[in-house]
Amino acid sequence: MAKVLFLVSTMLLNSYLSEQATLFHDDNIIDKSVMGTDTLKVGENVGPNSVEEEHLMLSGTRGVEATSKSKMLHKTRNRRCFRVEIDHQIDQEFDARKRWPHCKTIGEVHNDGNSLLSWAYVPTGVFADRMCIATNGTYNQLLSTEELISCSGIKEDEFGSVNDDYVWEYLKNHGLVSGGKYNTNNGCQPSKIPPIGNLPTGLYENTCEKRCYGNNTINYNQDHVKIKNHYDIEYEDIQREVQNYGPVSMAFRVFDNDFFLYKSGVYEKTTNSEFIQWQYAKLIGWGVENGVDYWLLVNSWGYEWGQNGLFKIKRGTDECNIETFVHAGEPQLI
Ligand SMILES: *[C@@H]1O[C@H](CO)[C@@H](O)[C@H](O)[C@H]1NC(C)=O
Ligand SMILES: *[C@@H]1O[C@H](CO)[C@@H](O)[C@H](O)[C@H]1NC(C)=O
Repeated sequence: MAKVLFLVSTMLLNSYLSEQATLFHDDNIIDKSVMGTDTLKVGENVGPNSVEEEHLMLSGTRGVEATSKSKMLHKTRNRRCFRVEIDHQIDQEFDARKRWPHCKTIGEVHNDGNSLLSWAYVPTGVFADRMCIATNGTYNQLLSTEELISCSGIKEDEFGSVNDDYVWEYLKNHGLVSGGKYNTNNGCQPSKIPPIGNLPTGLYENTCEKRCYGNNTINYNQDHVKIKNHYDIEYEDIQREVQNYGPVSMAFRVFDNDFFLYKSGVYEKTTNSEFIQWQYAKLIGWGVENGVDYWLLVNSWGYEWGQNGLFKIKRGTDECNIETFVHAGEPQLI
């Protein structure tokens, strides 16, 4: 499997260099199966103001550009330093919300307002969950996506991809203050990005604030928490990593229409769909549904999308490259 992943990375690189968007359709190593799974259901009633409609509008404009040019994520090379594993037994079904029920951030669904900022929501969520898990609930709150977006200087490209290394290095060197949802005063720097109802902007030029504008009784400098290290996770280590240390970040390719319309079941991309953008999501579990192995992830398109904001995607076949860019870090405990 490691070899296959290496091949995938190499092909992604080749694809990027030669700018051939069609590579993935032609290559039978990746494109094993283009049939939808039996369990997949998509939405039937896309109203003019529905979440799906807003995503479709946006995908329409992005889709054209995206097909003319292929883009890749940067896969970092440092593998994790192996620690003593607590748990070698891999559960057939796993849900981090049930394993650590006291950690309220695990099931929290954000709404990135159609902004291509999932690269910020996901590592922030993974970091917060892992703080709670590592401290057994002593630290149990959201971290600030706003600080990462506005203060790190990191910008996604037009397809929503960033270099994971830059993001996690920021979490390591600078850290994050506590955060909260949009329109709340929770945490030091709650989100300033309105939910998806506010199209068509999607572009945010927030200024970096070095103070707590949410709960202003919090001390900005003292509120930062950091990670100690971060690492890529190879396919065969994903489950053990999540079971022992908590959720991880995954990046995958979003293809037109079917993913936006996802409602339930195990997602698998349909034939002839076009690449639109990169998306990050937080892996919190896995299982088997009607004989199909799946990953369970939290997306950042609000609770109305998918299964209350979550989705299942086919596991074990690198569906939409979801098993290729897996990353996490270890919290620095104070
Ligand atoms: C973790 O916290 C729970 C209560 O929140 C407690 O019952 C449990 O003993 C704690 N575990 C450890 C290892 O400290
Ligand atoms: C604000 O932060 C302080 C210090 O952490 C905390 O005690 C208080 O409960 C917070 N207030 C709100 C409204 O969240």
